[in-house]
Amino acid sequence: MKRYLTTPIYYASGSPHLGHAYTTLVADCYRRYGQLAGDDVLLATGTDEHGHKIERAARSAGMATSAFVDARSGEFERLWRALGIGVDQFERTTSGSHKAFAQAFWQRLAASGDLYRGEYVGPYCIDCEQYFSDGETCPVHSKPLETFREPSWFFRLSRYQDALISHIESHAAFIVSATRRNEVLSFLRGNALRDLSVSRMSTRWGVPVPGDNGHVMYVWIDALVSYLSALSPAGPADLDDETLRGRWAHTSHFIGKDILTFHAIYWPALLMSAGFALPESLVVNGWLTVLGRKIAKSDPETVINPLPLTEMVGRDGLRWYLLRSVSLGRDVDFSHEALIRSVNADLANNVGNLFSRFIALARKRIGPEWRCEAAFAPGDDALRDGIGRHARAMRIAFDAGNPAIAAREFVDAAASVNAFFQRQAPWQIDSQPRLATVLWVIYGVLCDLTVMGAPFIPDAIAKARLGLGVSAVPSWADIGVRRDSARTLPMAPLFPRVSVDL
Ligand code: MSP
Repeated sequence: MKRYLTTPIYYASGSPHLGHAYTTLVADCYRRYGQLAGDDVLLATGTDEHGHKIERAARSAGMATSAFVDARSGEFERLWRALGIGVDQFERTTSGSHKAFAQAFWQRLAASGDLYRGEYVGPYCIDCEQYFSDGETCPVHSKPLETFREPSWFFRLSRYQDALISHIESHAAFIVSATRRNEVLSFLRGNALRDLSVSRMSTRWGVPVPGDNGHVMYVWIDALVSYLSALSPAGPADLDDETLRGRWAHTSHFIGKDILTFHAIYWPALLMSAGFALPESLVVNGWLTVLGRKIAKSDPETVINPLPLTEMVGRDGLRWYLLRSVSLGRDVDFSHEALIRSVNADLANNVGNLFSRFIALARKRIGPEWRCEAAFAPGDDALRDGIGRHARAMRIAFDAGNPAIAAREFVDAAASVNAFFQRQAPWQIDSQPRLATVLWVIYGVLCDLTVMGAPFIPDAIAKARLGLGVSAVPSWADIGVRRDSARTLPMAPLFPRVSVDL
């Protein structure tokens, strides 16, 4: 099945930090999860490069805006590569294909009769590129809001209020989780939507509004449309292209809670107006915080660069900690101690140790290849069944938008294999047929663990599969499969214990 996953396109106003990496890792984890089922998954990310915020950041860096965004965008692209994230399409909103696409999309809104001219007056947060009502303050940035007054095009958002409510009511999985869904629904039920100002005259740094050159599109319109334009990177702006629409039909947007309104209210309304299906789901993460404050460029004390962390615990280590320890949707304070504790306890002592011990012991006691030589004892089946149950529970957790619980199923499964290993003590078994059987049973469940671990620790899983002599591509269909023979190859430790003085 075709699936399309997106991260937000990140503002090219500064360098990437751990908060951006977190959302991107969650999306990549789901990309790998989909691939286990044989899905054809496409992950798009990119950079949001227009608007006042970017223009000002370039000015204060003393750079031409286009050179500035090239440099920032390159940093994001390099970071995703360094973290091993499987980016299929990196979309930049300053690209020619995106601009053409955004203009074609705009014309659809106009053709639906949803655009009209007016004047926008009101407070605005440049850091969020977001409108507020009189008397409101921005919940993210503590700076005073600026007042904007300018002629503007408006989008008839108010027309879509009832359609939005009924879509969210009838699609329980549209907004993950229930708390966020209820938040959006109660907002929509309790407040009349006002039409949205969708163009600017006060900046030239944007996508020109078709047929009205004094205006550029409001940066959020241009940014949201990037989710569609990423599916048409080289081609013409053909909104009815079948390949594009086929892929679009199975879309999940991974976003932070700070941009839920844009994705749950503005974007669906724009899509309805332009004649597109709505995404299947919005998977909403909470904030990574430092000292209780959101990690954000605008608060430099909180900013953490992910790369030095990967030097300390490996990129699997960082990925594991974020996915296992942060319950999706919650805010979690980042701590170096917790990162190291989690990597040592779950990965070095539990998972890594299990694979290394097993391979070393099997090679010593039985050689590189062997067959199952005796009937199973009752405990052998129980272990295999238990792993099957963990694998099923993992899929349920993933499908419910709960990767932290899915990760727990994986370590619990590894712990049960460790316990079996201890109990059976194959280093003491004298009977050759029983030894071969015990090692064969453990080998089989280790193969299963390499499937379950693939979304979380892909580098280690690639090594472990080499060590177990199985194909590089893990698949759910292989779980519980009885192999004719087992074989191992020498393998370097997967996760050396981390000991650093903090
Ligand atoms: N450019 C817009 C998004 C447009 S999408 C059509 C934007 N960019 S951003 O650079 O501010 O990044 C937003 C996303 O980065 C958040 O929604 C969230 O997914 C992620 N995060 C940024 N800081 C974060 C934390 N401190 N914690 C968790 N996620 C964080 O908004």
